[in-house]
Amino acid sequence: MSSAKEKLIVALDVDTIKEAESLVARLQDYVGIFKVGMQLFNSEGPEVVRRIHRLGGRVFLDLKLHDIPNTVGQAAGVLTRQGVFMYNVHIAGGSEMMRKAVEMTIREAEESALPLPLVIGVTVLTSINQSILENEIGIARDIETQVVKWARLAKESGLNGVVASPKEIRAIREACGRDFVIVTPGVRPAWAGVNDQKRVMTPKEAVQAGASYLVVGRPITGAADPVEAAKRIVDEMEEGLQC
Ligand code: C5P
Repeated sequence: MSSAKEKLIVALDVDTIKEAESLVARLQDYVGIFKVGMQLFNSEGPEVVRRIHRLGGRVFLDLKLHDIPNTVGQAAGVLTRQGVFMYNVHIAGGSEMMRKAVEMTIREAEESALPLPLVIGVTVLTSINQSILENEIGIARDIETQVVKWARLAKESGLNGVVASPKEIRAIREACGRDFVIVTPGVRPAWAGVNDQKRVMTPKEAVQAGASYLVVGRPITGAADPVEAAKRIVDEMEEGLQC
């Protein structure tokens, strides 16, 4: 498995197991991880995770947990039992919530003899701009400063890494070190449309900036030939890794 392939996460933003399985079956030779988000999980439930595992794929369960520490901790235990490779929580839930998620993940992985999933924190969503951050959420700080502050808090709380926009990779890498996992959506090859993503980078640029994993959805799942699109993206990432 090439290291570029291992770093590529495809977002399965579809409604049904049938569509998801068809994409996994076609793409798994070129893609390391499949992301199941709230659309697919709320539609099909944990069965979709079992099906992807049965096809040999690894799963990033993107449910962005955010609740009181006990509730998130219990959910973290359940997700760990499903054998996912990675799942995420909102850093805005605070350090006690994140610590509880990590504690229950470790406990469940030990009890079930399952691999320990990576626990990733969501920083500031890429759909939030400066005005929303200040006037609606009430955080009077520039976005990058807030993202780095939250990334440090996630690290101190025992999380393995964060989800962040490509533009914030360098600052997070500097603050949190080389082993900290940075998962980056908002990736667009030069040949694909940007859709509703606002602050994008190419796969090569994102890898060069220090991303650990790239999340790509529509440029692959919406392509006329998803396999060809995935191959091209892996090739671009490979180029970035060699620079
Ligand atoms: O199709 P596209 O490549 O834009 O898909 C990106 C995926 O990453 C979607 O599943 C989206 O929900 C997710 N995501 C994002 N920005 C964030 C967090 C998650 O685009 N800040």
